Amino acid sequence: MSPKRVAILISGGGSNMVSLVDSMTGDHPARPCLILSNNAQAGGLKKAADRGIPTAVVDHRPFKGNRAAFETELLKPLEEARPDIVCLAGFMRVLTADFVTRFQGRMLNIHPSLLPKYKGLHTHARAIEAGDAEHGCSVHEVTAALDDGPILGQARVDIEPADTPDTLAAKVLIWEHELYPAVLRRFAEGNRSPVLMP
Ligand code: GRF
Repeated sequence: MSPKRVAILISGGGSNMVSLVDSMTGDHPARPCLILSNNAQAGGLKKAADRGIPTAVVDHRPFKGNRAAFETELLKPLEEARPDIVCLAGFMRVLTADFVTRFQGRMLNIHPSLLPKYKGLHTHARAIEAGDAEHGCSVHEVTAALDDGPILGQARVDIEPADTPDTLAAKVLIWEHELYPAVLRRFAEGNRSPVLMP
């Protein structure tokens, strides 16, 4: 059985992309086929190239908010890569329902909160503000509704009194790098039962 082809979309440093790529070795049922970014300056692009993985950039800025036109261009390298699975990993553009529908059931995202809490941005600050005792990250199937969709995995961390949004984000990021690869492997094996960490 040939390995599942995984395309990963990034916008920045790509630390989650690196964790996913570095996990796809040996008897892992998937292999990376493309790293695609909306940002030519994304630090993750060099990390991908250094690993010999094909990369592509489709800058969203010329489309000036015309999401459909941007996605039409984004789809060209993505479809050419023939992915079986698409992973959003620090990809900071909101995708339209049309785009998501094309990959429904085989597109994953990692979000830095214990969904359904704190959809959207500034999740760490919001959890601290709310006085929550714990926080974490979630991997979910991408659906048309933002940061929604079936949960495929979650990792929890305690919020300490001294935590700031930055210290909390750093704690959560460590778990993101454990959770996302574990979920991807299980998902590529056809198993959708949630991964719960620690
Ligand atoms: C991470 O906090 C992730 O939860 C969010 O984007 C941030 C940066 O991710 N989606 P990366 O280092 O670019 O993978």
